[in-house]
Amino acid sequence: MSDRLNSLLADFHSRLELCVDSQALESLKAEFLGKKGPLTELLKSLKDLSPEERTRVGQATNDAKTAMEAGLASRRAALDKIALDEKLKSEWFDVTLDAAPSRLGALHPVSRVQYEIEDIFSSLGFSIQDGPHCELDYYNFEALNIPKDHPARDMQDTFYFENGAILRTHTSAVQVRAMEKLKPPFKIIGPGKVFRVERTDPSHEAAFHQLEGMVVAEGITVAHLIHTMKTLLKEIFKRDVKIRLRPGFFPFVEPGFELDISCQICDAKGCSVCKHSGWIELMPCGMVHPNVLKHGGIDTDKFSGFAFGLGLDRLVMMRFKIEDIRHLHSGDLRFSGQFV
Ligand code: DAH
Repeated sequence: MSDRLNSLLADFHSRLELCVDSQALESLKAEFLGKKGPLTELLKSLKDLSPEERTRVGQATNDAKTAMEAGLASRRAALDKIALDEKLKSEWFDVTLDAAPSRLGALHPVSRVQYEIEDIFSSLGFSIQDGPHCELDYYNFEALNIPKDHPARDMQDTFYFENGAILRTHTSAVQVRAMEKLKPPFKIIGPGKVFRVERTDPSHEAAFHQLEGMVVAEGITVAHLIHTMKTLLKEIFKRDVKIRLRPGFFPFVEPGFELDISCQICDAKGCSVCKHSGWIELMPCGMVHPNVLKHGGIDTDKFSGFAFGLGLDRLVMMRFKIEDIRHLHSGDLRFSGQFV
């Protein structure tokens, strides 16, 4: 019996040497250790033996089985190592190569210009004030000398909420909020998003950006207003830009002006953005109306002020020569990717 086992083991080991892949190993395992294999046969025939022989032969058969299993495992490990070595030889990569380029995010052009202008104003001693997008009628209209039923309300098509609140139509709503908070003299800007019911076109959007400015102190005159505007535009465009002032009507200023700059997109030759006039309305402004100062609790015998509302999106368009305001909110990466 032990001869039989020894020759089985010898046979197994010589066959094992010939196995070159895991498929061969599996079939060798099935042949020797499977249900119909010689070892199973041997174990089945144990019942015909005497008890002593049964113990001895049973033990020897199990030892042979263990030896075969160990042989299979070590051959499998050897084959795995060969396969890995082969793979390492054929597959390699250069760790010194540059990584695949990743896309970097960047500030939106509107934010970029807004932060730049905030810096300019901060350096001139202005503080930055904020206000809510969802605004009360009082701050957006009433306190700005635009009572209910005033025709000037038609100038700004407003989004209304059912409870009477509105989406602010201009950053001028920040003016009275600032006056309630600060004591004159003060200089503030209020940048942010504003909303109007608009039919969109290359220069109109329903959501856009303004930057409000307000200066209140003793003895403020139109001269201060003009000087500040000129300084600002020079800083923004880094060169002298042609401007013109026209009278303009806004209920919260008296006198009021429209400040236009020559179109930077077409060099004043005429294009769709400037509606072929060569001029862009950039900054309405004026001397703060006494009624507005009063709503802010300011003594109008002592203090006066000027205010302006900069169209931020227009400025961004001039700066980067963008011909359609709708690009700004498009979320199109082909557009924003140009500002990285
Ligand atoms: N709030 C006005 C608008 O959006 C713009 C404006 C005009 C702002 C005159 C001002 C100003 O501060 O003085 O139409």
